[in-house]
Amino acid sequence: MNKHAAPDLKAAHIKGGVATDQRHDSAHKHVTGTAIYIDDMAEPQGLLHGCLGLAAVTHGSIRSMDLSAVRSAPGVVDVLTAKDVPGENDISPTGRHDEPVLADGVVQFYGQPIYCVIAETREQARRATRFAKVEYDEMPFVVDVADLDPLKDKLVTPPLTLKRGDARTAIRKAPKRIKGRMRLGGQDHFYLEGQIAMAVPGEDHDVLVYCSTQHPSEVQHMVAHALGVPNHAVTVEIRRMGGGFGGKETQGNQFAALAAIAARKHRRAVKIRPDRDDDMTATGKRHDFVIDYEVGFDGDGNIHGVDFMFAARCGFSSDLSGPVTDRALFHCDNTYFWPAVHARSAPLYTNTVSNTAFRGFGGPQGMVGAERVIEEVAFALGKDPLDIRKLNFYGEIGDGKDRNVTPYHQPVEDNIIQRIVAELEESCQYARRKRTIAAFNANSRYVKRGIALTPVKFGISFTATQYNQAGALVHVYTDGSVHLNHGGTEMGQGLYLKVAQVVAEEFQIDLDQVKITATTTGKVPNTSATAASSGSDLNGMAAQNAAQQIKDRLIDFAVDKYQVPRDQVIFLPNRVRVGNQEIGFADLVKQAYLARIQLSAAGFYKTPKIHWNRDKGQGRPFYYFAYGAACSEVSIDTLTGEYVVERTDILHDAGRSLNRAIDLGQVEGGFIQGMGWLTTEELWWDAKGRLRTHAPSTYKIPLASDRPKIFNVRLAEWPEAGEPTIHRSKAVGEPPFPLGISVLHALSDAVASVADHTIFPNLDAPATPERVLMAVERMKTQFAGG
Ligand code: MTE
Ligand code: HPA
Repeated sequence: MNKHAAPDLKAAHIKGGVATDQRHDSAHKHVTGTAIYIDDMAEPQGLLHGCLGLAAVTHGSIRSMDLSAVRSAPGVVDVLTAKDVPGENDISPTGRHDEPVLADGVVQFYGQPIYCVIAETREQARRATRFAKVEYDEMPFVVDVADLDPLKDKLVTPPLTLKRGDARTAIRKAPKRIKGRMRLGGQDHFYLEGQIAMAVPGEDHDVLVYCSTQHPSEVQHMVAHALGVPNHAVTVEIRRMGGGFGGKETQGNQFAALAAIAARKHRRAVKIRPDRDDDMTATGKRHDFVIDYEVGFDGDGNIHGVDFMFAARCGFSSDLSGPVTDRALFHCDNTYFWPAVHARSAPLYTNTVSNTAFRGFGGPQGMVGAERVIEEVAFALGKDPLDIRKLNFYGEIGDGKDRNVTPYHQPVEDNIIQRIVAELEESCQYARRKRTIAAFNANSRYVKRGIALTPVKFGISFTATQYNQAGALVHVYTDGSVHLNHGGTEMGQGLYLKVAQVVAEEFQIDLDQVKITATTTGKVPNTSATAASSGSDLNGMAAQNAAQQIKDRLIDFAVDKYQVPRDQVIFLPNRVRVGNQEIGFADLVKQAYLARIQLSAAGFYKTPKIHWNRDKGQGRPFYYFAYGAACSEVSIDTLTGEYVVERTDILHDAGRSLNRAIDLGQVEGGFIQGMGWLTTEELWWDAKGRLRTHAPSTYKIPLASDRPKIFNVRLAEWPEAGEPTIHRSKAVGEPPFPLGISVLHALSDAVASVADHTIFPNLDAPATPERVLMAVERMKTQFAGG
């Protein structure tokens, strides 16, 4: 025990509390190859391996399936088909019963899993899949939503309509009107670690499943459902993923269910790790859309009314297409106040893999629609799109104008977009560079430059209100070290570290005293997916709640033992001041243990204020909004369509960042991934309905060399008027993704310069070099002709 007369409370700090820059807890392990992913785990004795057999037609009924040659191939132990599923052959996450573990009788997309080979080695399982003889009666199929009628054709889940005011009348009465259509591509997640699950059978019906998943509780429920056993028989664990990006919110279910079925049947551990081609063929992607829009506006650029139809390629089953297409509608305003608006979604059935969650969850698609409308209006009036953007922004906090209600009737109460855009416009010298670019283009025959500054407003919370809850489990051991567990999963985004910082801060102990442990359904139950960017908001609060419970007990104990008032027990860095003496944190913990004080707690949190009535299209689905803006400059080669991002400047709002180093990484990574979606990443289905871009040879994600040549990224850390989130930080996982829209618009600006900004470029996304070249050629022809 140390005695200090007058401690300077501010003098010392713990190492690694909140609002400090900490490197990712596993960064050194990631780069030295010592981080243990599921495929790196020591393999249980007798481990078997599974490989999926994929359908070779796009739509058809299975006339016959001869698997005898597969069964007799070397090393093969079993071939599972739909009839081997002991429980229900269903892994649909929303309970619509439209997604079988293995197709039963009918195949609905090319590459749908129809059987699963179980063999002694992975190579043997893969080789044997080739020997199946499957005959089909083919049926008509539909792959492209542009061939469908969004109002009449089959949907996988009910559509949503948002409306405020009378959009039709507002558009009709407006001095000017434009009607248009845009195609917007999907995106493969391209996580570095592919899907993987390993199931280890236990006693009775028990099974322990290691699965690369963002949603361990759902995997638990799906596995139990497919096995026909209670949830308590299944434990799911995941220490880390090598990237998820939404692709592991539901897509791990199938691999986990099959591994568990085989493990239980053969009483041996089973691992399934599909190769990249199978993974890209058989798992869902970001939804691509056809966006139809109509806008009414005046000569100044004020928008009076907007009407949208968002038609999405959902694939053969609903998966998460309902909430994804809902979120697209929730973001069809982006940062703009539409005085009258009507927006409808069409989650269309197609004979393609079932599309799923992907960073932004439909939100970025909605924003692309909003930005397209802005671009059309600016073009029609010959004005700078940035001026039209600013003119139509939501009202500022307290400006007294009635311009802050979203299409879903939630008021925007925390708007800071004007300030973000003003500061970015200034720091990136937008106006000066715009003039320089115009001068450059006037003198450059083949290379043209373009620039665009685009804003982002992203709604934070799961739109299904019940998912906005979290649990945590904290143990303090008698040496003062802490074991932390919560329902969030780690996929590289730094969630474990941020939550550990929160716990270290609460106890006022150094970060290395907090042990980060693998997510498991056995410790924290009934968790939500780590998704919707809500990981640190939800789990940070739950862990803080658990730590506070223990801290309160320690305070009660100290008050009782040392007979001091409560306000004289103060947690200082790694020690506790009790009256006028200081006790080391570990010492106090030890004393509390001897006095039989409980040093473990389960914490809980649920987001306040949110509610949503889908039938009415009204409510407060989001707790708050995160904001940002990006300005990108590109140059294009008008002879080849190739382009370079010359410079990007970003100002992004992360509230009071828990960890600036991590958050900056999220902003940079999110932007680059968003840029890849809208530029080089192209999913291509052929006339037979086969996805032809299912490997890095044909699917091009951005490389390090594709990043902007000059890349200035800053966090806006102003004390804002927002909600009391965990240490007033803001979610940062998804909101930076749509900053990539600035690159699409910069490309469009560069293309427009080919015809002196007299012809609308009508650039679809992804704006691949081919598409840019075709747009340039179109402009040249029309310009010459006109
Ligand atoms: N960052 C990395 N490195 N890897 C990922 O897979 N996923 C993103 C984002 N950032 C992802 C990532 C997605 S889709 C989401 S929803 C958030 O992280 C989830 O984590 P959070 O809620 O803890 O921010
Ligand atoms: N956002 C992200 N992921 C989700 C959501 C959502 O609103 N709902 C279910 N999964």
